[in-house]
Amino acid sequence: MSEAILNNFKRLKSMNLSIDITRGKPSSDQLDLSNALLSSSVSASSNSGADLRNYGETFGITEARELGADLFSAPLENIIAGEQSSLLLTYQTILANFLFAEPIPWKDLKNPKFICPVPGFDRHFMMLNDFGIDVVPIPLTNDGIDLDAFEAALKNDGDILGILCVPRHSNPSGETYSDENIQKMFKVGSNFSKKFLFLFDHAYLVHDFLPTKSQSPLWDIASKANVCNQTVIVTSCSKVTFGGGGISFMATGGHSLDLVKKVRMTMIICPDKINQKRHVDFLESAEKVKLHMKKHAELVRPKFELAYSFLEKLDNEFGTFSRPTGGYFICYATSKPIASKVVKICKDAGVLLTPAGATFPKGIDSEDSIIRIAPTFVTSDELSLAMDVFVTAVQIAHLDLNT
Ligand SMILES: Cc1ncc(COP(=O)(O)O)c(C=O)c1O
Repeated sequence: MSEAILNNFKRLKSMNLSIDITRGKPSSDQLDLSNALLSSSVSASSNSGADLRNYGETFGITEARELGADLFSAPLENIIAGEQSSLLLTYQTILANFLFAEPIPWKDLKNPKFICPVPGFDRHFMMLNDFGIDVVPIPLTNDGIDLDAFEAALKNDGDILGILCVPRHSNPSGETYSDENIQKMFKVGSNFSKKFLFLFDHAYLVHDFLPTKSQSPLWDIASKANVCNQTVIVTSCSKVTFGGGGISFMATGGHSLDLVKKVRMTMIICPDKINQKRHVDFLESAEKVKLHMKKHAELVRPKFELAYSFLEKLDNEFGTFSRPTGGYFICYATSKPIASKVVKICKDAGVLLTPAGATFPKGIDSEDSIIRIAPTFVTSDELSLAMDVFVTAVQIAHLDLNT
């Protein structure tokens, strides 16, 4: 067996591959689905009569905000339609609280901390690190956050300011939180503090590629729990239309909305209204967005299935992998502490993976086990080769073979 594994590795290495499966990006076929945006002509005024060519409409044109309201099932007055990046809105939320939160701006706190589920999104950790905010990691369960760990973290630490999480098709392990999980999160967090911030990065709000367990709109759950002023939900069209070229949305209320508006008023006169208009003309409504996303699903699902067909060659002795119903990632958990070694062996054979540990705060996975696989961007042929390399690398590292 060992000989066959090493021979396969030799064969793959001799192909001088150069394949990058590090980041969750749409493939060019997916981008083609929105090509109409490239040639669309846009009227010079919004439905409410605002001149799109000029400054104005600080928080987005009305029809873009209406699309956001439709996507989030939230009232129009609670919606900001922003630039092309939801991460920017997340950053602005943290910045606003850092500078102006009441009664004490976060910058004046000695030990500010935020809860993040792990494994998680590396940019969330980087962002919190920029503000000197320590991450308190908690595990995820199939149902959402580990509520016992959440409660225990709050009991042990009075300095925790909020939670930053991806409630649907979580990056990278794919969990979709249940309503009950979110309700309990709201209850425990708001009992802990009326200023506790629930920051939801809803990057994969409409990115199902298989039937996904039901999840009520977060805004509805927040309204029923009376925590809309402590809740911020963001998303974007980066993986609906063009990566980094869509439009973004935020839903929030009360003091949280006031704070975000305050920082945005200083830093930007208005978003790109022409791109907002172009997107609204193209996407029209939440229902139409979901139809458009079905076309994405037809392109994305086969890539996941192809990746599984390789991963299934590794029995549970080697490790386990996630089978999400949407989103952009597969998470492989090695049974031995060999993730860094697997990533290195793949690199030696020309296949780039996200560095082991990247999905943990400070880049440290104490068990050296989690590897994030992003199958969407590359072609199916490239993905087959990359997965062959990956499976071979896991076998080599697990069996401690010499390449
Ligand atoms: C969880 C999560 N949030 C945000 C983003 C980026 O979103 P945007 O392009 O809207 O900033 C990504 C992209 O990979 C993501 O996985």
